[in-house]
Amino acid sequence: MSTTAQVPLSEPGGPGTPGGPTGEGPGAEEFAERLFASALGALDVFSVYLGDRLGWYRSLAADGPATSAELAARTGTQERYAREWLEGQAVAGILTLAAPAARGPEGDAPPSGVPGGATRRYALPPGPAEVLTDEHSLAYVAPLPRLFAAVGRTFDELLDAYRDGGGVSWGRLGADAREAQADLNRPWFEHELAGALGRAPDLHAVLSRPTARVADVGCGAGWSTVALARAYPQARFDGYDIDGPSVDMARANAQAAGVADRVAFHAADAATLPADVPLDAAFAFECTHDMPRPVEVLSAVRRAVLPDGAVVVMDEAVAEEFAAPGDDVERLMYGFSQFVCLPDGLSSSPSVGTGTVMRPATLERYALDAGFERVEVLPIEGFSFFRFYRLHH
Ligand SMILES: C[S@@+](CC[C@H](N)C(=O)[O-])C[C@H]1O[C@@H](n2cnc3c(N)ncnc32)[C@H](O)[C@@H]1O
Repeated sequence: MSTTAQVPLSEPGGPGTPGGPTGEGPGAEEFAERLFASALGALDVFSVYLGDRLGWYRSLAADGPATSAELAARTGTQERYAREWLEGQAVAGILTLAAPAARGPEGDAPPSGVPGGATRRYALPPGPAEVLTDEHSLAYVAPLPRLFAAVGRTFDELLDAYRDGGGVSWGRLGADAREAQADLNRPWFEHELAGALGRAPDLHAVLSRPTARVADVGCGAGWSTVALARAYPQARFDGYDIDGPSVDMARANAQAAGVADRVAFHAADAATLPADVPLDAAFAFECTHDMPRPVEVLSAVRRAVLPDGAVVVMDEAVAEEFAAPGDDVERLMYGFSQFVCLPDGLSSSPSVGTGTVMRPATLERYALDAGFERVEVLPIEGFSFFRFYRLHH
């Protein structure tokens, strides 16, 4: 699980990570300020969720500035709530004030009978509009708050799991998490995947075989499969995911992209990948760390892929080893791990309980246990927060 935007991230020990485990740590005032700033950030996240899910950002982007009454009418929502949200968004510096719709006799004072602030008109500037509404942009971060909302709904189950064992499955997190995941990775697959694979010539050659058969395990909503199908129009693809609603989304996405004739999706555990149809290549995009039994899946992949084929795992580009304090990527991945990926992995038994912070040595151990001979890190850098591994027979 990762966010995708190209945002500046702090270095270990930088401003985002005051203190350290071996020093004195932050003072009370310093730490209170940090936590307060985090709480303000959380409020941004919650209010962005409202604006995303209620269609308010999309309306402001598509139809221009609006008063609270106009926005409510456009989106079928309640004016009083829209007004509070609009004012909060402007105070937070996300929306700007546009020319008022109508002026009362004393400037901004509302006409008689109209509540204060109801005549103010709000605009979504181009920068936030891209981040909040452009699903094709690498800066599209709007889906991330959906993941937080999904987690919020499961907090009681999370507490039970932390106390008593077990977990909270990906399916339990529901549509918000599923759609957040799909939408966060989609722009990277759409814009960057073909070029990235082209930078690994051996891999590109395998995928360019005239009758190539390729599997995408843990394919989610299938955006990776669709991107591969567009990049390699002569190849056939099979996507596998254990989550039925994700497979439904993948089928619809392939259909809409016009590649459904060469792409099939299967609601199945990737450990059951058939070995009787030899594959030229298999991919596992950001899913190996979620799997309760990754060695079973990698073993099935190894059996299915031809010895001269290619197996690629894309997973989080976390540091080689634990170090504290860590940088923002490590903080983000430990966050996802505590609330999403580790509880998901532990929701099935038996489970190795990997979590989001799957370090290169851990993946290498899984690959060797699955019968692969060695693991190579591919020369693909700057692809969101991911590292690409090739597993060699
Ligand atoms: C974090 S999502 C990644 C989805 C997609 N690859 C992407 O990059 O957006 C992990 C996916 O792995 C799937 N998954 C986990 N274990 C699986 C298994 N054993 N077989 C098939 N899919 C699995 C989950 O259902 C989920 O859709």
